[in-house]
Amino acid sequence: MPRFSSSSSALRSSEIRDLMKLAARSDIISFAGGMPDNKLFPVREVEELFGRLDLSRKQTAFQYGPTPGLPSLLESLGGFLADKGLPVNRDRLMITTGSQQAISILARVFLDPGDRALVENPCFIGALAAFRACQAETVGLRMDGEGVSIEELEREAARSDAAKFLYLTPYFHNPGGVLYSGERKRRVVETLAGKDIALIEDDAYGDLYFYEEDRPRLRPIKAEDPEGVDVCYTGSFSKILGPGLRLGWLLAPPEIHERCERIKQSLDACSPSFTQIIADEFIRSGLMAPYIKRVRREYRKRAELMGDLLEATLPPSVSWSRPRGGFYIWLTLPEQVDATELLKRSIRRGVIFVAGRTFDPEGRRNNALRLSYCNTDEKQIERGVPVLAEVLRQALEG
Ligand SMILES: Cc1ncc(COP(=O)(O)O)c(C=O)c1O
Repeated sequence: MPRFSSSSSALRSSEIRDLMKLAARSDIISFAGGMPDNKLFPVREVEELFGRLDLSRKQTAFQYGPTPGLPSLLESLGGFLADKGLPVNRDRLMITTGSQQAISILARVFLDPGDRALVENPCFIGALAAFRACQAETVGLRMDGEGVSIEELEREAARSDAAKFLYLTPYFHNPGGVLYSGERKRRVVETLAGKDIALIEDDAYGDLYFYEEDRPRLRPIKAEDPEGVDVCYTGSFSKILGPGLRLGWLLAPPEIHERCERIKQSLDACSPSFTQIIADEFIRSGLMAPYIKRVRREYRKRAELMGDLLEATLPPSVSWSRPRGGFYIWLTLPEQVDATELLKRSIRRGVIFVAGRTFDPEGRRNNALRLSYCNTDEKQIERGVPVLAEVLRQALEG
């Protein structure tokens, strides 16, 4: 009899976690982590806002709360999401402990061991981990500049042992940086309609768009409320306020929401009341919109700088696209280059990134890498990109 469960054995330690330890060293320039810059957090605003609360509200902050979330936050967040066109009245909203928990809960609602989960390739590592924890098979679908491959999705959807759901990050994909086209989203829905394959739409980065003209493309699939597809929408305060709050949400049809609530009850009973009150007050006091605008401007500046430097220094055999929002740039290298080997050389020169295979559902394809510009200031970007380009050139020259 094995000592440990097979589900705990199914989980691997992520290369990113190991890199995070390195990233804390002051002499390292980290293009690895996907976390916001500490210097951008609204510390003063939150201090003031909490100080102003009356005693009973502060006491509530120390108390347990209802499993689906504090009613006041459900209401204020509901308003924020309704502005995106989301059906907050028809479907039901739940506050979760980060959107990582929303994804994990949905995984547990749908997946039994051996079930298939369709994901993008590359895919957000946290989602892969959540699906693997349920001992599901993660099936990666190819991506291009407009989103997931419809051809591959059609093939998978037609199988007799079809997958339980498709997990997508259509808005500034992690790690690919891709913003889906309207047409691709329409075709995804068309392919899934009537097939009993749910859609998990992860919108962790949608608010961090850089260009006004992209706003129509940011309208969630969930906002269209498509017929014949159960869309479960997830989002997070992590990139628009702070991951330390550990707050995310999910918006799902009532029947799915009810199952999610039972699972959340067994996991942590409720998300932190303390940070729920902070998030609620942040929205209600009108601080959210100007704060998002400020970080959006800052990330855009960094992304454009990194883009300019990459354009000037990268060998032409490396392909990539300028990001239009979010935190990431995905570099595709010639077939023979192994990004982990490249990383080892790059670490010696003081620059880190994440090797591509971390995001491959099969953990194989490694001629790619993810750069993030969210946690490095302009000076570090200016110093780090030429180093990276040089390491790459040397690798390509053999
Ligand atoms: C695509 C995506 N979804 C979800 C999350 C989870 O974030 P959190 O649990 O902090 O809300 C992340 C975090 O990096 C992410 O990149």
